[in-house]
Amino acid sequence: MADTAITVEEARKKYGGKAGGYALDGLDLTVARGTVHGVLGPNGAGKTTLVRILATLLRPDSGRVEVAGHDVVRQAYEVRLRIGLLGQHAAVDEELGGHQNLEMFGRLHHLGARHARVRADELLERFGLGDTGRKPVKQYSGGMRRRLDLAASLITDPEVLFLDEPTTGLDPRGRTEVWSAVRSLVGGGTTVLLTTQYLEEADQLADRISVVDAGRVIADGTADQLKALTGGDRIDVVLRDAGQLGAAVALLPVPKDDVCVDPDRRLLSAPVTDRMAALSGVVRALEEAGIEAEDIALRRPTLDEVFLHLTGDDHRVKEPA
Ligand SMILES: Nc1ncnc2c1ncn2[C@@H]1O[C@H](COP(=O)(O)OP(=O)(O)OP(=O)(O)O)[C@@H](O)[C@H]1O
Ligand SMILES: [Mg+2]
Repeated sequence: MADTAITVEEARKKYGGKAGGYALDGLDLTVARGTVHGVLGPNGAGKTTLVRILATLLRPDSGRVEVAGHDVVRQAYEVRLRIGLLGQHAAVDEELGGHQNLEMFGRLHHLGARHARVRADELLERFGLGDTGRKPVKQYSGGMRRRLDLAASLITDPEVLFLDEPTTGLDPRGRTEVWSAVRSLVGGGTTVLLTTQYLEEADQLADRISVVDAGRVIADGTADQLKALTGGDRIDVVLRDAGQLGAAVALLPVPKDDVCVDPDRRLLSAPVTDRMAALSGVVRALEEAGIEAEDIALRRPTLDEVFLHLTGDDHRVKEPA
């Protein structure tokens, strides 16, 4: 068996005839078998378009796209036998219980009645829904629903699973539940391609990440490699007085444009090369200038910063790590 589960070369897709822009604009992607690959991008980046093409629901205008060793256009049927899909808006029947839903999905996928029942039991157990299988889905929490969606996408034990924004709209608890469900898949050898807008999600789950913007991959690598792209460590300084932020920026030993300032949090953040020298230098410079700091810390960049940096909009600061 090949080591590659997904290959995308120069994929293009345009919606709405000549007037429309490219949703995919020469996208390249390679996913190794048995890994979790994160596709990270903002609204409209082309994530769902990519997933729909990979899942044979949409044809690319041009380019080569292969999933589980088969071409998605010429061998769509072969591809469909080997994949599972958790869409951005999943469809389970609200009135039915979790168990009934899974049984129904099993029958739709041509499992015999007994096999469908056994498979439903297995999957409910595996995703911590064993006790709630009889309850109508409309009484499920968001996290439970999403785990049921995930179970439904695994009915046929797919080689390759696509998850389109699996945790969008969930609270932190629901998100953690879905994350551990996804992690439990990976040991089984399933290849997972997951799209997300949450940098933390890609950081938590993905072996490798492709950052997508305007239909292209603008960066690719492990979370650590992507973080290294922004120039290594950062120093964060929280001042007592937001009025002194400007003066403090001028004291830092880096170009002014590299400093991120967040007045609401009285915070400034700058990339550093030599950690210790930077720390002692900043402490001394602030002291000499009579600027009082509430907190000074060295840290690794967050993926948020990597993303803002890559998409050319990095002069804001989000949650520090
Ligand atoms: N059916 C369609 N007809 C016309 N344009 C579309 C259609 N579907 C998507 N697009 C456009 O293609 C681009 C990519 O959309 P896509 O849904 O793939 O993005 P996305 O990354 O999944 O975004 P989101 O994070 O909001 O789900 C967008 O500009 C979108 O407006
Ligand atoms: Mg989408």
